[in-house]
Amino acid sequence: MLNKVEHIGIAVKDLEAAIAMYEQLLGIPCYKIEEVESEGVRTAFFLKDGAKIELVASEKAGSAIAGFIEKKGEGMHHIAYDVDDIHAEMERLQAAGFTLISEQPKKGADNKLVCFLHPRSSGGVLVELCQEIQ
Ligand code: CO
Repeated sequence: MLNKVEHIGIAVKDLEAAIAMYEQLLGIPCYKIEEVESEGVRTAFFLKDGAKIELVASEKAGSAIAGFIEKKGEGMHHIAYDVDDIHAEMERLQAAGFTLISEQPKKGADNKLVCFLHPRSSGGVLVELCQEIQ
């Protein structure tokens, strides 16, 4: 099963500008900036009273984030849920009719194994499963 909402992902065009804005909005500094080469993105993280926000910016033309921003503009991109066993959850959700975007989990940002569910199978919301790498 899915545990708590682990973070909310927000697509941004300019990571540095978005970090500055979120530092103003939340009143706290970004605690980590990380490049995820496999996805062609750079990410920045904020933790506000246990709620985590991930800003995601494209680093490469043709990345999924670049395509998203081109179609929909900046804004809410995905909701990520913590899971204990990502392989078991991928199997369970696929059997339940959800569409997995990748067949295997990938190494994501912030020390996670991740897999996404296609929004057409999850009510228009891009869902990320993430398991902390031990
Ligand atoms: Co995420």
